[in-house]
Amino acid sequence: MIDACSALNHHELREMARRFLPHGVFEYIDRGSEDEHALRELAQAWRHWQLTPQVMVDVTQRDCTTEIFGRTQSSPVIIAPTAMAGLVRYNGEVLMAQAAAQAGVPFCVATQSITPIERIVAMAPGADLWFQLYHWEDRSLAHQLVQRAHDAGARVLVLTADTVIAANREYNTRNGFGIPLKPSFRGAWDVLCHPHWLLATLLRSTWLDGVPTFAHYPEAFRSAVTRPSISKRIQVAQSLSWSDIAQLRKLWPGPLVLKGVLQADDARQAMACGLDGLVVSSHGARNVDSAPAPIDVLPEIVDAVGKHLTVLMDSGVRRGSDVAKALALGARGVMVGRLPMWGMAAGGAPGAAHALELLRQELLGTMALTGRRSVHELDASLIRHGAG
Ligand code: FNR
Repeated sequence: MIDACSALNHHELREMARRFLPHGVFEYIDRGSEDEHALRELAQAWRHWQLTPQVMVDVTQRDCTTEIFGRTQSSPVIIAPTAMAGLVRYNGEVLMAQAAAQAGVPFCVATQSITPIERIVAMAPGADLWFQLYHWEDRSLAHQLVQRAHDAGARVLVLTADTVIAANREYNTRNGFGIPLKPSFRGAWDVLCHPHWLLATLLRSTWLDGVPTFAHYPEAFRSAVTRPSISKRIQVAQSLSWSDIAQLRKLWPGPLVLKGVLQADDARQAMACGLDGLVVSSHGARNVDSAPAPIDVLPEIVDAVGKHLTVLMDSGVRRGSDVAKALALGARGVMVGRLPMWGMAAGGAPGAAHALELLRQELLGTMALTGRRSVHELDASLIRHGAG
């Protein structure tokens, strides 16, 4: 079997991840919600956007470095927040941060991380860490978490707005892979059929750190991911509103970003509330099964706020050409979720770093073939919408 760092593309990394992970964990990462219309739509949407090459341009020197929120990075990519990466591999969030540091891009730590941000900082020196907030019902506990992330050294705060309830992902229920995790015979058999994962992830984590917990939950509410009830105080606030943004704006001195925006009006409101940026995102087609593909709504959001806010996007980025399309439509950068997760499952931190390097090389290749020397030259003249 080939090693993760020899994978040629995302298909090979995904396949390696599929073999390593129990079916329940793999599906948790891979799939969408309900009938997966949004997931299929996502794949189609990228294909409908086409890049029209310009020829006779000297592209000997190409550079895809860029600056996002005041820091230069090696490519316009950020590792997206992904809950429970620590169930993919032991210390999974640390591995992601190490991969990000190696690749020279930021890593956004999730609220529902298995590894605490303090350990990530200690074990991934030099990583540019952002922090993703699921805003809990109990405002004061949520604000304490924000303070904790700040004290640990997170540079950018990303508030996820699109997940006020857990989405309907029936396969997770069938696999026993909801939050909380529900142990079952089927799940146990699945795990036994993946002995490498069982040894390298589950037993190692449990032996070294005890049963995995959500590391950012306050001590009093910190329970094993298998515990049946989660206190209402630390459930995501269904009452989340723009007034919460005003509070966060007062608390957070650095860049503040809203993730999960798909409407131009929401983007305008975000601007009025003093946010610094947004992520145009459908959560990787994991929430609203009738959601549009973010790449399709990106142009109207860039039109509305692009001159004033840093617009990022995600959902379905798999190739460097996807990154080029997003930038040509006005995004400053893209987040990637599944791609580095597959890389990390396939080969730990080097596997995740390899996934990011593939993306960077593909972007540089796309730039060469379309006559662009820097990411700033990836503009509207490059892109057209093809099929109707
Ligand atoms: C996510 N995503 C996510 N987003 C978020 O704001 N908080 C979270 O805890 C999670 N958890 C999570 C787990 C897993 C397994 C995945 C795949 C995704 C969504 C993520 O940040 C991002 O929006 C999407 O993953 C982008 O789509 P792609 O790149 O995965 O196609």
